[in-house]
Amino acid sequence: MKKIQETDNEKLFHQKILLRADFNVSMEKGKVKEAFKIKSLQKTLDYLLEKKCQVAIASHFGRPEGKIKPEFSLNLIKNEAEKILEHKMIFVSDCVGEEVVKSFEKIDNGGEVLLLENVRFQKGEEENEEKFAQKLAENFDIFVNDAFSVSHRNHASVAGVTKFIPSYAGFQLQKEIEEMEKLKNNFAHPAIAIIGGAKIETKVAVIDFFEKRYDFVLVGGKIANEALDQKMIFSEKVVLPTDFVGDRLDIGEKTIKKFEEIISCAQTIVWNGPLGKFEEEKYARGTYQILDFILEHLKDKKPYVVLGGGETLEILEKRKAMERISFVSTGGGAMLAYIGGEKMPGLESVI
Ligand code: 3PG
Repeated sequence: MKKIQETDNEKLFHQKILLRADFNVSMEKGKVKEAFKIKSLQKTLDYLLEKKCQVAIASHFGRPEGKIKPEFSLNLIKNEAEKILEHKMIFVSDCVGEEVVKSFEKIDNGGEVLLLENVRFQKGEEENEEKFAQKLAENFDIFVNDAFSVSHRNHASVAGVTKFIPSYAGFQLQKEIEEMEKLKNNFAHPAIAIIGGAKIETKVAVIDFFEKRYDFVLVGGKIANEALDQKMIFSEKVVLPTDFVGDRLDIGEKTIKKFEEIISCAQTIVWNGPLGKFEEEKYARGTYQILDFILEHLKDKKPYVVLGGGETLEILEKRKAMERISFVSTGGGAMLAYIGGEKMPGLESVI
């Protein structure tokens, strides 16, 4: 892997760095819901600033589909990001061109960084247009990817830029890959995967992986309904809910008990996606009860527990349980794609 800390100092000192982060967070009353996602940039950002680099953070926010939409401006995240990362940020109303050059002249080198406008305001971003990627890269000497959670996207600010400037993996990205590799190749049995959320088609590959390697795969959330409706066939290792709450909006009591029984002997637990429509309190019970059961089980049997995915992070933050989990991945879709063996365009030139 091309690790940022293994770059020789001479190469790094005083360089202009394009740092790809993932500030794609949800907001509630002006507050970031998944602060952890922004916080995960800390180590790489501090390291680069220690090396006296001039850093510009690039990220997407939402899905504005190549159009400028004020509700997706990264300026809305700036104050919260400054607080979380404890560095002053200068917002740049574009992510390419003169605006970026001029803004670099404004920063003092005592810890200020640039925060570029949403890369997805540009059509060329999601199409990974070469011209746009080149424009994005041309104001910088080095690219650092620290956004594992978007590395499954073949986008200009993740993959395209790496053709034009030397590219390295940041600390969070390195850690994520190390953890994902452990989950794939170096885990203790009994190993249990819990997969929830929506869109079964995006989860088939990962269920298949776990079905082959792990001891059980517990399926909940919307994907369980989709699997049942489509009469999908799995081996006996895959456990689908047998009862529900409401119109199949949460797993029922019998299913919770069955899941708990299986989890109670686990040495490895991987969880991605809620088990019901948890944003409505009356359908949140299954998800929280299983989380509480895992937290209790952690005290006792000390299994290795990895959780990932935007909504899963939200649940963890609500329970203030972040620190109790062995590893919390910033990746939702990216975690599933990596484990399922899909292409990861954002990793190709840094690993
Ligand atoms: C995420 O929040 O999972 C990542 O930022 C990826 O976002 P995307 O699904 O809009 O590409």
